Amino acid sequence: MSYPYQIKTLEGYKKDYETSIKNPDSFWGNIAETFTWKKKWDKVLEWNFKEPSIKWFQGGKLNITENCLDRHLEKNGNTPAIIWESNDPDEHHRVLTYKELHFKVVQFANVLKNNGVKKGDRVCVYMGMIPELAIATLACARIGAIHSVIFGGFSAQAIADRLEDAQAEFIVTCDGAYRAAKDIPLKSVIDDALVGNKTIKRVIVCTRTRTPVSMIKGRDVWWEDEIKKVETLGNPDCPAETMDAEDVLFILYTSGSTGKPKGVVHTTAGYMVWANYTFVNVFQYQQGQVHFCTADIGWITGHSYIVYGPLSAGGTTLLFEGVPTWPDAGRFWDVVDKFKVNILYTAPTAIRSLMGFGLEYLKGKDLSSLKVLGSVGEPINEEAWHWYDKNIGKGNCPIVDTWWQTETGGMMISNMANVTPSKPSFATLPLPGVEPCLVDEAGNELLGNNVSGNLCIKSPWPGIIRTTYGDHERCRQTYFSTYENKYFTGDGCLRDEDGNYRITGRVDDVLNVSGHRIGTAELENAINMHAGVIESAIVGYPHDVKGQGIYAYVIFDETHGDPNLSKQDIIQTVTRIIGAIAKPDKIQFVPGLPKTRSGKIMRRILRKIAEGDVTNLGDTSTLLDPSLVDIIKDGRI
Ligand code: WT7
Repeated sequence: MSYPYQIKTLEGYKKDYETSIKNPDSFWGNIAETFTWKKKWDKVLEWNFKEPSIKWFQGGKLNITENCLDRHLEKNGNTPAIIWESNDPDEHHRVLTYKELHFKVVQFANVLKNNGVKKGDRVCVYMGMIPELAIATLACARIGAIHSVIFGGFSAQAIADRLEDAQAEFIVTCDGAYRAAKDIPLKSVIDDALVGNKTIKRVIVCTRTRTPVSMIKGRDVWWEDEIKKVETLGNPDCPAETMDAEDVLFILYTSGSTGKPKGVVHTTAGYMVWANYTFVNVFQYQQGQVHFCTADIGWITGHSYIVYGPLSAGGTTLLFEGVPTWPDAGRFWDVVDKFKVNILYTAPTAIRSLMGFGLEYLKGKDLSSLKVLGSVGEPINEEAWHWYDKNIGKGNCPIVDTWWQTETGGMMISNMANVTPSKPSFATLPLPGVEPCLVDEAGNELLGNNVSGNLCIKSPWPGIIRTTYGDHERCRQTYFSTYENKYFTGDGCLRDEDGNYRITGRVDDVLNVSGHRIGTAELENAINMHAGVIESAIVGYPHDVKGQGIYAYVIFDETHGDPNLSKQDIIQTVTRIIGAIAKPDKIQFVPGLPKTRSGKIMRRILRKIAEGDVTNLGDTSTLLDPSLVDIIKDGRI
């Protein structure tokens, strides 16, 4: 495949950027022309941020899987689409060419149909990182079912909440998943999530770990048995369902500043164009290259840069089941060496963690195939940036620092490899189609350079969130109401003297722990479920590896039991209600929380204490009980 819209020079970037903002219709219309449509659109863009109502390529009809699979068959049918590397270095890897992947997607799409899945139905996918996860996801898209992939680390309770919110009727899962030396019993977690569930009709279980599972009659079926059934039907084809450009492609849940996760909705055509365009331009992908994105498909990074971006570009995407530090901290470098990876896209937390293991794990690993390095999920500190540049890129690979969000569908602010310059710890410049602005608390736009404020986007790009599932008002409130006529990102940001953007972190009550978003309200709700907890407040603090660590202040009823054991119990409660990713790093029992007279927790003070910055706590005179501050300070962990 060639990519006529791949920008080649800094001048080209400037020109395309300008056109994209001045004339989005012709700019995106020209790019969309290069995709496969069943019917061309009538109108490129119609929007208002008030409702919000955003429509890209209205009237157009297509199926994203024809763009990710069918259109590559003729010329690239034998090109590897997915290279899969097991958690276990001794297990043989798998390669699926475009032909093979197409065959398997079509086959599983027929399995879904056979099990009663129809266009528009919500299918929850809860699997480990095996090719069948990508296959299940694409099979949903093939028949127009809406996938909602849930990361394999979420707990039964978290799944139950998401199933309920999405009113999901089908689940695709595995018996278990391998993760380092552990075997996670996914099906058993699903069984727990389904206690009391009224909507799920069918659970399809794929074999991976051979962990014993209980199969419920009439509800649960094996993936492998169902495949056999469609094989006997003889006709392996499954025509791609005709979808409207704005039909929902998927729901992906993410945390916000309220207690309940939001189902971010992305639609078909705009998301496809955005995932593809950003993939091709930011990484400067060349046909034949091996792209290794280390995220899990359960997060947006995996959706856009393991599945939809690379496959829509006819690329080769590497899917890795394991973790960076097992069996040892050289695992990523073995994978890069083994498959001659050209593009490595990972998170600062992984880089910092590997940095901590020292250089010995790099010895003897041939990383010379690497051409481009990427970073995503959180701000990358300069030390990690330089380590990545020097030891992994050997000073020869541009690092793209890509800022974006679940809600943006794809990268928004990033340098482009070998095209626009990098600057350590800066995401640098907006991609074509992205019109960022900084505003102060009052919503005034901050013009000129050398300013910092809250990051907003002034106009829609093709991959923008369309709604939050089942609750459009929530979408409006969260993203489009803080500042009139702007999409509000929730991030603080500065713009330097050259117009480069540096993301400084969330300005709302959302933590970024190891590149994962954790809503403080959601976590507090989970902690408060523990019988001995009266009240709690969560703040983030700087953490060497995770970026942010989780600090919990808890008012505990001491009559309830041994406080030390209780801390373990609280951690257990969080693991059960949300999942292990949300476990607090530190728990401090406190007699009370610093509140204003109106009952609002002064998080600023708690944050400072957690950070260890206790000398200058600012004005505490408005507190209901200022003496609490000293007690909390003294008990700091
Ligand atoms: C939040 C979005 C985008 C996929 C992974 C996370 C932070 C993301 C960067 C970056 C600084 C970043 C922001 C953003 N973030 N990328 N390159 N530099 N911060 O997706 O879970 O939706 O989280 O991650 O705070 O708002 P997400």
